[in-house]
Amino acid sequence: MSADPGRPVVLVTNRLLEPAPSLLAASCEVRTMPEGGPRTGEAIAAAAAGCVGILSQVTDTIDARVLSIPGLRVVANCAVGYNNVDVAAATAHGVIVTNTPGVLDETTADAAFGLIIAAGRRFGEAERLLRSGGFDRWRIDMMLGQDIHGATLGIVGLGRIGTAVARRARGFGMRLLYTATRRVAADLEAELGAEFRSLDQLLAESDFVSLHTPLTAATHHLIGERELASMKPTAVLVNTSRGAVVDEAALARALQSGTIFAAGIDVYEQEPAVHPELLRCENAVLLPHIGSASVRTRSRMCEVAARNLLAVLAGQRPPNPVNPEVLD
Ligand code: DGY
Repeated sequence: MSADPGRPVVLVTNRLLEPAPSLLAASCEVRTMPEGGPRTGEAIAAAAAGCVGILSQVTDTIDARVLSIPGLRVVANCAVGYNNVDVAAATAHGVIVTNTPGVLDETTADAAFGLIIAAGRRFGEAERLLRSGGFDRWRIDMMLGQDIHGATLGIVGLGRIGTAVARRARGFGMRLLYTATRRVAADLEAELGAEFRSLDQLLAESDFVSLHTPLTAATHHLIGERELASMKPTAVLVNTSRGAVVDEAALARALQSGTIFAAGIDVYEQEPAVHPELLRCENAVLLPHIGSASVRTRSRMCEVAARNLLAVLAGQRPPNPVNPEVLD
């Protein structure tokens, strides 16, 4: 079937959840990529030839090859993070990039807090023990972990998700420290009872450290060998942000040598690959990037991405531009 010349052609790189497919189909010719194939810049550029919009996901490399497609106007990334998109190249080519902030904060904070508890209290190890027949009797010293309540939580990046994690921590009676590129407003600090620290101070003082920073050149391997060595031997590291914020090889060594107590990890440097040494760490709870994976939130993310894309194609300002200078 040939495309209707009156309707814009858009590429949807991966499966979406309703209502996004219906919203797009109502006004666009939707082209989809086959399930399971590569999502390299080359593959996406080939699939997107002739498209004015792309609805992408975190698995996709949206590089200069894609962004230089003639006539391309918008890349709507179905995620709050957009490190998979070369935003500088998009801006240079006049392509608007959008993301999906706001709708996934609480769900991702739930996941981060779940990892704080699961890693601190050794739920992964304990479940494996039970399933493998190792629960032969109750023992006073079986699977001893770290208390969550009353512990000090250090939040790296007190943005929307970090703040949502901080609110949960209040309910557990935790002491709160945070670090960020700049201090948040005094009334938010007061509401959360959060004290500002440098990264080094936060790492030294915290029992749990939860990462909520975007991946940029400045945050690549923010947590490496030196930083892990400065944490308490009883400390737990949780990462639901982006894998490359942590040096995965250094983390595996720190977990194996007892430099830190445990880790709860949802994101990896080379997804979907996980560093083989990390897979060998019993004291790591490892999830397959499911931080925002609730039925409602994933549906909302797809909807927000679709609405951003449709707004640009309708000549309107999209709700969530990442490079608004293209609009201005
Ligand atoms: C994001 O939105 O950036 C997540 O990593 C996927 O939910």
